[in-house]
Amino acid sequence: MAKTVKVIINGKEIKVPVGTSILDAAKQVNINIPALCKHPDLEAGAGCGICVVKVGSGNGKMLRACCTDVEEGMNIVTHDPEIVRVRRNVLELILSNHPKDCLICARNNDCELQRLSAEFGIREAYYPLIVGRKRHKFDNTTKTIVIEGSKCILCGRCVNVCQKHQNVWALSFLGRGIDTVLSPAGEIGLNDSPCVKCGQCSNHCPVGSIVEYDETQKVWEALNDKDKYCVAQIAPAVRVSVGEAFGYPLGTNLTGKLVSGLKKLGFKAVFDTNMGADMTIIEEANEFVKKFTTAKDTLPLITSCCPAWVDYLEKFHPDMIGNFSSCKSPHEIVGVLAKTYYAKKNNIDPSKIVMVSIMPCTAKKYEISRSQEMFSSGQQDVDVSLTTRELARMIKQSGIDFKNIEDAEGDDVLGVYSGAGTIFGATGGVMEAALRTAYHLVTKKELPPSKIEFKQVRGLKGIKDAEIDIDGTKVRVAIAHGLANVDKLLKQIEAARAAGQPSPYDFVEVMACEGGCVGGGGQPYGVTNELRKKRAAGLYKDDEGQKVRCSHLSPAVQTVYKEFVGEPLGETAHKLFHNHYHKRKTYIK
Ligand code: SF4
Ligand code: SF4
Ligand code: SF4
Ligand code: FES
Repeated sequence: MAKTVKVIINGKEIKVPVGTSILDAAKQVNINIPALCKHPDLEAGAGCGICVVKVGSGNGKMLRACCTDVEEGMNIVTHDPEIVRVRRNVLELILSNHPKDCLICARNNDCELQRLSAEFGIREAYYPLIVGRKRHKFDNTTKTIVIEGSKCILCGRCVNVCQKHQNVWALSFLGRGIDTVLSPAGEIGLNDSPCVKCGQCSNHCPVGSIVEYDETQKVWEALNDKDKYCVAQIAPAVRVSVGEAFGYPLGTNLTGKLVSGLKKLGFKAVFDTNMGADMTIIEEANEFVKKFTTAKDTLPLITSCCPAWVDYLEKFHPDMIGNFSSCKSPHEIVGVLAKTYYAKKNNIDPSKIVMVSIMPCTAKKYEISRSQEMFSSGQQDVDVSLTTRELARMIKQSGIDFKNIEDAEGDDVLGVYSGAGTIFGATGGVMEAALRTAYHLVTKKELPPSKIEFKQVRGLKGIKDAEIDIDGTKVRVAIAHGLANVDKLLKQIEAARAAGQPSPYDFVEVMACEGGCVGGGGQPYGVTNELRKKRAAGLYKDDEGQKVRCSHLSPAVQTVYKEFVGEPLGETAHKLFHNHYHKRKTYIK
């Protein structure tokens, strides 16, 4: 049992585990201490000073609650007039170096600094504005995320997540004092740096200093162009997070309202990326079973549906390109099917189709033109990729009363999916979906309902591994999410290879974002592990409620193979659904 200590917070004695910070101990008695540089996902940086509390008898010492652990008998005061005055002063100093651009800021109404300023009742600029003296960067070179350095409060969250959680080290602070600037090393553009466009920096930034590259205007223009035929698709993780922008309970599945809302925005057809996930599984499970049965020395097979992960592998582990599944990501598969199969069946000129993907992800904005293979329909297969946040803004702008619109169903076979397709959005979901189909491919039987769930591969542990018994055949699988965890796992595989030993794993699932796409860089702000769990629970519930829970049993998938694709891994499948990878430089200049 964890050792505990007794502490007094605002006169009330509580017991908390050793190692708890004052900030977290206070939460246990429902006291919120303001924090800016500290995010629940990240280690304390102790950079801003807004979380000060008094510790000790009498007037006490002022200590930062985020980076001070409780000790036996500690007497803590979290709020008194002097503490509030100090916190207010910290805020006023931050504001003296921050533009007051709230009305034209991407984080307007959803900004931690704005909220704190409102809570502290700040009504005038106490210190003179010195923002003009600071060097800062504007960088939209990746076309996925945008750095607006003038708004940066130097809290360090983005640097922390990029370096320690994603192991990319694209961002750092350069210069000193008032000249400090957030930038890649050498002040190069982000696109010339090792950045893999995961967007985790934007999701952890408390203000509007790193945001997604906004492409909503491009979509409005397409929707208003009578000559275009706009279609949309919804990623698995979007359906359980978009509700946060409209006041729904966390993890509510809103597939029906999303389809309906997109139709009201003017999309002629709405497809489901879950269907593309089912297709990915058919190709990937066949790829795995083929290697597992005929070429074990080429294992592990590593999943490739996360574009930030693809970029990371090409930059940091190109020696493992041969282990990568050649299968495209689900939304690219729906994109190419929309402009070939669907266009032909419905007699639509594919050059008029504008395919818009609604994704939890910023890296998908990069993926849609990352190589010639993203144009395999003869057009760009996906034209625009919007984040969940961008879609929520569009729905609000359009005046659609999202909470009260009727549900609608996806169009055509491209809008129909199995339970295996929906769990793609959570870490372990791709593996679980692939195992359901791999079981069928190996045994020619179906999993009984009691065995359809592979709970060993679920959950938020950074690296999960399991030995799966497929009718007597053992398959060793591993799942990693968050690129620092991925790096650890890959090093383990590389070490075995260097020692001339077989790979410790046969099949590996990787997602760049912690929690998988439910924690994606384009999801609504404020992500924590609690939130990741609730979003994932929404997907598992969707799976449980589906009549068909295996990709190979989906009637939509069967129709598309029968009417158009032919065999999995066959000629058409290879032409439309598969990829090549290439070593990329980490620094371009
Ligand atoms: S997008 Fe990801 S890799 Fe790029 S700077 Fe942000 S956290 Fe780092
Ligand atoms: S960009 Fe955002 S997260 Fe990064 S240091 Fe500045 S304010 Fe903090
Ligand atoms: S885990 Fe999902 S959201 Fe994150 S970068 Fe990969 S595909 Fe995008
Ligand atoms: S939140 Fe504690 S120092 Fe910033």
